[in-house]
Amino acid sequence: MASYCPNAVDSILNKELTFSECQNAMKNKEFLRDFLLFNLNIIFNVIRTIFEFIFENSGCLLFCVFVSFLFFVVYRSYVNPLLYKKELTEIGFEHIAKGPDRDRRISRAQATRRMGNKIPPPYPNGWFAVAESRELKVGGVTAVDALGQNLCVYRGEDGVARCVDAYCPHLGANLAVGGNVCGNCIECPFHKWRFGENGACVSVPGVENAPKGVSIKQWPTVERDGAIWIWYDAEDRPPLWNIEEVPELDHWGYRGRNEFIVSAHIQEIPENGADVAHLNAVHSPSLVSSLGEKYPLLYDLIGKPKLKNTLVIASPASQGELLPTTG
Ligand code: FES
Ligand SMILES: [Fe+2]
Repeated sequence: MASYCPNAVDSILNKELTFSECQNAMKNKEFLRDFLLFNLNIIFNVIRTIFEFIFENSGCLLFCVFVSFLFFVVYRSYVNPLLYKKELTEIGFEHIAKGPDRDRRISRAQATRRMGNKIPPPYPNGWFAVAESRELKVGGVTAVDALGQNLCVYRGEDGVARCVDAYCPHLGANLAVGGNVCGNCIECPFHKWRFGENGACVSVPGVENAPKGVSIKQWPTVERDGAIWIWYDAEDRPPLWNIEEVPELDHWGYRGRNEFIVSAHIQEIPENGADVAHLNAVHSPSLVSSLGEKYPLLYDLIGKPKLKNTLVIASPASQGELLPTTG
C-alpha cells in the first residue's frame, strides 16, 4: 500500500497527498469495500435462504396461499361484501384529461351537452327502489335524495317501511336528519311536531290540538324482494301496477354489487340494455376476448368470441300485476 502513496493525488482537490493522508485514504477505501462486501453477502444469504425455504416448503406454502384466498373470499362474501363503485366522473368522461381542474371541465362538458328538443320527462312513472330492507331497522330513519326529491324513509314500530317528503311544513327542517320514529309517526328534530301514518300532523308540543290541514306528502311505499320501493307518477296517480314478487330471492344472500353513477337520463340505462347492436362494438364478451385484443396470438389459437343476443319481448303478465287505473 505504501508504494502507491508517494505519487497519490486527491482527484477532487487535485493536489498531491502526504504519506499519512494517502494511508488514511487507502484505509477508508478498504473499509468501504469490506463494508459493501459484507452487506452484499448478507443480502445474498437472506435471498438464498428465502428461496431454499420456498423450495423446501412449496407444498405447505401453496396450501397457506389457498387457505388465505378462501378466507378472503368468505370474508368478502359474508362479512364485508364487495362494493365496486364508480363515481360520476369515471364514466363517459374518459376523454377529459387528468388535471387539477378536471372536475370543473367535466361540469362544463355536462352543461354543454346537446339535449335535443324532444327530451322525455325527467322521471318515468313507476316503482323505484329507494333503500334496501336490511339497512332499515325498526325505528330507523334514512335520508334519500332521488327522483328530484329529498325523501325521508323510516320504519315504524309496526315494522312497516314508510316514505315521506323530508321537509317539515312548519319551518322546513329535514325530517331525515335527526328525526325520530315514535310509534308509527315521524317526529321532526327541530320543534318535535309529529306526523302520522297518512302524513298528517298529529301532535305539536305544548298545544292541545294538532293544527288541521298540516301534513307532509306520504309516498305509496311497498317492501318487496329485499328493497323498499316508492311509486312515482308525474300526475300523482296511485300505483298502476304491483311489483312482482321473486320467491327465489328468499334463498339468495347478498354477496356484493357494482354501483355506477352515470351521467344520463334515467331512461337511457334500460334502453341501453335493449340496444343489442352496441354490444359487439363496445363490450368485450369475456376476459378472454379482452386479453385477445391485447395479444392477437390468443385469437389465432382459440378464434374470436362474439356476443350473441336475443331480444325477448315480455308479455304484460310477466311485467307484474296490472291494477285498474283510476283516470
Ligand atoms: S321545523 Fe319541524 S317542527 Fe319546526
Ligand atoms: Fe353497454
